[in-house]
Amino acid sequence: MNRNPVIPFILILLMGVGLVFFLSAHGANKAAENKDEGTKTAQKFDAASFAKDNCTSCHGQNLEGAMGPKLAGNKKPADEMKKIIRNGKGPMPAHDESVIADKDLDTLVKYLKDGAK
Ligand code: HEC
Repeated sequence: MNRNPVIPFILILLMGVGLVFFLSAHGANKAAENKDEGTKTAQKFDAASFAKDNCTSCHGQNLEGAMGPKLAGNKKPADEMKKIIRNGKGPMPAHDESVIADKDLDTLVKYLKDGAK
């Protein structure tokens, strides 16, 4: 037998390269799936459930105020509310575009000002 001793190394190298391609293709698919989910939730934005998931822990079960001020029927100008939701204030966390899109933020603030019903 006159086998070239380098061949096993080349095979292992090819397997490694193949694995890298497999994993990155897998990752790209996952990213595409997540993007789809993002679009779906953005299409049917529901202010009530968004607030329940993100705000009631501090602003009360019915957004009537708790550790954070009352949000249902809040009297602050809409622009000021939006600014606080975007940038945060004191213990209030910031919510950037990846959490809530501009148009959904409009919907949310309207919902809150209308008494969160
Ligand atoms: C970790 C607790 C916490 C969470 C979660 C939270 N907030 Fe707040 N929020 C606060 C606190 C505390 C304040 C008061 C900040 C201050 O005035 O110093 C506040 C203030 C506000 C204000 C200003 C109200 C006013 O009358 O001054 C708005 C509007 C607001 N939050 C909206 C929201 C919305 C909408 C969400 C969910 C997307 C949310 N907050 C999530 C704690 C929280």
